[in-house]
Amino acid sequence: MYNYLITGGAGFIGSTLANHLSKENTVVVIDDLSMGKKSNLKKSDNLNFINGSVTDKNLMTKIISENKFDYIFHLAAIASVADSVERPVETHQINFESVLMLLELVRKYQKNLKRLVFSSSAAVYGDEPTLPKKEESVIRPLTPYAIDKFAAEQYVLDYNHLYGVNTSAVRFFNVYGPNQNPESPYSGVISILVDRYKKLKNGEKTEFTLFGDGTQSRDFVFVEDVIQALLLVASKEAALGKQFNVGTGNALSLKELIDVINKIVHVDLPVKYEAEREGDIKKSVSDISRLKSLGYQSNFSVHEGIREYLISE
Ligand code: UD1
Repeated sequence: MYNYLITGGAGFIGSTLANHLSKENTVVVIDDLSMGKKSNLKKSDNLNFINGSVTDKNLMTKIISENKFDYIFHLAAIASVADSVERPVETHQINFESVLMLLELVRKYQKNLKRLVFSSSAAVYGDEPTLPKKEESVIRPLTPYAIDKFAAEQYVLDYNHLYGVNTSAVRFFNVYGPNQNPESPYSGVISILVDRYKKLKNGEKTEFTLFGDGTQSRDFVFVEDVIQALLLVASKEAALGKQFNVGTGNALSLKELIDVINKIVHVDLPVKYEAEREGDIKKSVSDISRLKSLGYQSNFSVHEGIREYLISE
């Protein structure tokens, strides 16, 4: 039984991780509920929910100085790239400054921490066209979100090299699954699609807006596989001071994705085509050799992941 801190633990990935871990461990979750929902968290005596922001220095100092954690997962972030372009200063406080503050608190108070895992993003690779993306591929962060993720990730790994804090980082590709919020146009495309299928099933009139011609492709990874990756990265000695792509290693186009779901649910989702989004990347796919070297094996193909997602809705 270990003691975990999960920042952003009421969000999509954080709550999935918290629900998994609280079965057999104690878990402290801090979340300001700006995107996350308390209802994402299953009730458990092992889980202590704190409603607050990772940017609140007094609160974070109290949490870090008064607890002994074995593992910390820093998943709190403003995950919207569009938001970071609109409000670079505010999102910088959350996506970057909170990380540096956390690192300093950990350096001071958590001498026995086994691992801090920071969630970075495939966004750090930007639009540099060489594929698949390896961890050592060219980095070209194009937005405040991507710049903050990359800078924070580098600080996190440098705290291992400079001060011996046990740290690792993960670069998420396109994660999907239950509890992903479909409410913004910049929510993950699969959460939007699942929402439209649900409406269709309930007899509501709906359609999906496809930006571009549907040939753009992404590396869609199911959240349960992401949890496996996070736990591996946190537990393996070989992951210390390193960053890991978290994806499947396979790309699927949006057209193929819609075909897959149509076949699973036996309906044809009406699709309206609109102009491609500005700055949209044509193709994104990970190389996950480094993650595999830790023993990672994907348990969910897109078919299986989508099926699980649909069953849970
Ligand atoms: C994702 C990340 C983003 C990150 C980027 C890095 C998510 C939600 N976003 O963006 O934070 O910077 O990877 O590569 O994971 N689409 C539609 N209709 C919709 C919604 C989306 O056609 O209603 C299209 C988009 O234009 C895009 C594709 O679907 O071509 C995927 O969109 P999205 O799920 O937002 O992910 P990314 O654009 O890859």
